[in-house]
Amino acid sequence: MNLYDRIPNNVNLAEDKKLQRALEKWLPNYLDWWREMGPEGFQEKDVWLRTAIDVGSEGWAHFDYVKMPDYRWGIFLEPAQPDAKVGFGDNYGRPAYQEVPGEFRNSLRRIIVTQGDTEPASVEQQRQLGKTCPSLYDLRNLFQVNVEEGRHLWAMVYLLHGYFGRDGRDEADDLLARRSGNADKPRILEAFNQPCDDWLNFFAFTMFTDRDGKYQLSALAESGFEPLARTCRFMLTEEAHHMFVGDTGLGRVVRRTAQLMKEGDVRELGGIPLDIIQKYINFWFSYSLDLFGGEISSNSADFFAAGLKGRYKEQDQYTDHTAANEVFNMTVVEDGQLKTREVPLRNALNEVLRTEYVKDCEKGLARWNKVLADEGRSERIYLPHPRFHRHVGEFAGHSFDIEGNLISPEEFERRKSEWLPTIEDREYVRSLMHPVYEVGKIANWIAPPAAGIKGKPFDFEYVRL
Ligand SMILES: [Fe+2]
Ligand SMILES: [Fe+2]
Repeated sequence: MNLYDRIPNNVNLAEDKKLQRALEKWLPNYLDWWREMGPEGFQEKDVWLRTAIDVGSEGWAHFDYVKMPDYRWGIFLEPAQPDAKVGFGDNYGRPAYQEVPGEFRNSLRRIIVTQGDTEPASVEQQRQLGKTCPSLYDLRNLFQVNVEEGRHLWAMVYLLHGYFGRDGRDEADDLLARRSGNADKPRILEAFNQPCDDWLNFFAFTMFTDRDGKYQLSALAESGFEPLARTCRFMLTEEAHHMFVGDTGLGRVVRRTAQLMKEGDVRELGGIPLDIIQKYINFWFSYSLDLFGGEISSNSADFFAAGLKGRYKEQDQYTDHTAANEVFNMTVVEDGQLKTREVPLRNALNEVLRTEYVKDCEKGLARWNKVLADEGRSERIYLPHPRFHRHVGEFAGHSFDIEGNLISPEEFERRKSEWLPTIEDREYVRSLMHPVYEVGKIANWIAPPAAGIKGKPFDFEYVRL
């Protein structure tokens, strides 16, 4: 078998001997990692998966049964734009970088490694979930997300191998060496070290943490380093499905809970009470906010100035792409009080991106609250205040209630079981997680989806067990 037929690509891999050699060495290590850390117990099963085979809005994916280790993890970049320019920052309007500019080499490598590290991390976090899937439809979606996170790792490793020489190859090896939640060699970002060991966690993770991915990728899709921009644009196509899984997954849990509330006590009926769903939202939303980085950040200013990382929809949403003389009014904690501080806009770009993300999350909450309303319930769920439960940035090290009011650490300790999943909550949710492997059947704690995948019905055999 020819290795290069196994890596579908539109980067002319067959012609690039140096890159071939680098990937040739990396591929078996990747497969070892996949077998060791990928979905446990399902590696030899046929799964009905989509595989990226081309770019472009039509016909980019092929659907068929495939065993996951045989999945064709390809390398795809959106087509190059003729005369691409750096779209923002100090080099605004100059030709886009086709090679890594020497002065930005470390920053770029760090951006790519940080993004790349999240991809295998999430596969590791989710590797036990197949054993408790609520339906074959959900099992297939889990594996779809997993193989595509694997492809996103390939996308970042392609950039490291293709543009960073020896240290890029070392970084690519390290991406396979770190392990989610491992004290000695943890993944880089904290949300990717949190266990994701039940399906409520999985749906909240794909809703909130994959959505952080959407915003990071969107900011990098604006990058003046063209190979990165083109890579991220294509990754966003796949990412949309991951968020769909989380958004509709949580919506289906909410729907089932609302139905059971009409029948009686949700716990007695084997459902997930709304207050536990709320706590999982609070947990994953707050950890995902941390992924945007500090509110006031010299890195964000440097990355923007260099033309490496833009704002969300930089080209569509803004007219001034230098953001050099603008200011941003930031809420900070000073002398034990919330105060407003004026900071240069470029130093506030993490917060600007985070604000876009919060707006997007709110739309999800509106959809779930519509489910509650449709089921005739008056209860509502909500997002916690962005200051709540933060471990990175201005608000880390301070305590806030769910509405964002500054409180004492003692009060937070006393009340945190109201806001965050307790051990008992987690154990209760885990106690509901029994696999449903029968075609067309679904667990009691979640409603079936409105439709199947790619025109197939819900009772299609999405995974052959
Ligand atoms: Fe990803
Ligand atoms: Fe994703």
